[in-house]
Amino acid sequence: MQNKPENIHPIFNTLLNRESKEKLLNQRAKVIWFTGLSGSGKSTIAKGLENELHLLGYLTMVLDGDNVRTGINNNLGFSEEDRKENIRRIAEVAKILLNSGVIAICCFVSPTEELRTIARNIIGKDDFVEVFVNTSIEECERRDVKGLYAKARKGEIKDFTGISAPFEAPANPDVDVKTNGRTVYETVREVVAHILPLIKCTNKNTEDQIVF
Ligand code: ADX
Repeated sequence: MQNKPENIHPIFNTLLNRESKEKLLNQRAKVIWFTGLSGSGKSTIAKGLENELHLLGYLTMVLDGDNVRTGINNNLGFSEEDRKENIRRIAEVAKILLNSGVIAICCFVSPTEELRTIARNIIGKDDFVEVFVNTSIEECERRDVKGLYAKARKGEIKDFTGISAPFEAPANPDVDVKTNGRTVYETVREVVAHILPLIKCTNKNTEDQIVF
């Protein structure tokens, strides 16, 4: 793959800037990056977060592993190489959303520090908010919502995160959401409380309060 494009003349500097779009939307853009095992609850909490922010008047977009892998990334599997390309592309998409003033909510297993660093570097560390959905492998396997852990145990899925491929917990996440023994409502509230101060414009005149 070509990393240093030739004969390409980017026009980034001359485009209407992010601040103008944030002003229009009356919000500050961020990328909220959910990481965690398959079945840990990333998408469920992300959906709750999006609904809550929407009700409070924020424009958001959820990017989710299973969705993205049916479209823009439908040519990628789960080898180390493909996971890197998956995360690289999605981080670039999230950056486009960020520069449009939108709050991008990304739900990807993104199982290693290396992968999350790729995303953080593309997005920029000040705009990258890491949310670790901290559900034990035992609990994910017990829930097995998609039946994938059972298949992975039988050897029907190779390179399955947590079973036959690694998962490294983030060392220093912005939010560490422990889900075992808690309701979705509780975990969503925890994330919303952390995110609101980061996206709120000082001139936002509506009183933000959790209505979920
Ligand atoms: S990532 O590792 O590249 O970040 P991503 O979030 O896009 O993964 O996709 C993970 C989803 O794909 C899981 O929630 C699960 O539904 C499905 N999946 C299928 N095969 C695997 C696998 N080998 N490892 C992990 N998830 C898999």
